[in-house]
Amino acid sequence: MRKPLIAANWKMYKIPAEATAFTDAFLPLIASKQKAEIVLCPSTTSLAATIEATKGTEVRIGAQTMHWLDNGAYTGETSPIMLNAIGVTHVLIGHSERRQYFNETDETVNLKLKSALAHKLVPIVCVGEHKAERESGKTNDVLRQQITVGLQGIDPAAATSLVIAYEPVWAIGTGLTATPQIAEDAHKFIREQIAEVLSPAIAASTRILYGGSVKPDNAASLCCLENIDGALVGGASLDPTSFAQIIAGASI
Ligand code: PGA
Repeated sequence: MRKPLIAANWKMYKIPAEATAFTDAFLPLIASKQKAEIVLCPSTTSLAATIEATKGTEVRIGAQTMHWLDNGAYTGETSPIMLNAIGVTHVLIGHSERRQYFNETDETVNLKLKSALAHKLVPIVCVGEHKAERESGKTNDVLRQQITVGLQGIDPAAATSLVIAYEPVWAIGTGLTATPQIAEDAHKFIREQIAEVLSPAIAASTRILYGGSVKPDNAASLCCLENIDGALVGGASLDPTSFAQIIAGASI
């Protein structure tokens, strides 16, 4: 019942010409009717070019972050209205790099999530523990806190599009991947927390993606467990062939 979602997080890579070179190579590699929903998240200056280049296809375009307000004196920020206006459909919220380098907190994640839902942008809320937290047995405490505060005060009826990405920080860009069992256990726990904070029905329909060094050779084993509904891919999504292989592997 949950359609898999495979998202590419290009981070601070690819100028518009590189983004369109990617789509030129990538689109012929994927079937026109996908089993999975495919989302590309370019940097802000490549959003418009990527939207143009994927027009008429099933590929959707997401932003990597946004402000929660519609307008205002917030130099350098991009609002949900601005994203809507150019055809962005998804938005990453609370990626661990945003938390680590740009002071995002569970509270700002919550504000952004409410705003994204109000503006009909599909929110992909990122959660995950650091290495030291896992090693000291605090993984579930961290995930509980991130979900409880991040999803606080959300009307379950308005949260049907919610997507969560479980990205253990120690696996991001490191080449270390969670074992399928570690990922499945964390996803199951996250689903239970969503049931508590929102509702069992929303928990059952929410897609929970795995992220952290997903590559063509591990996508199939990580993406097809009971509580894993797709992947958020960083490094390996920069190359059209490897991202297409991940989609093929993850959508079995
Ligand atoms: P990675 O990044 O695939 O390069 O580990 C994942 C992410 O940061 O979303």
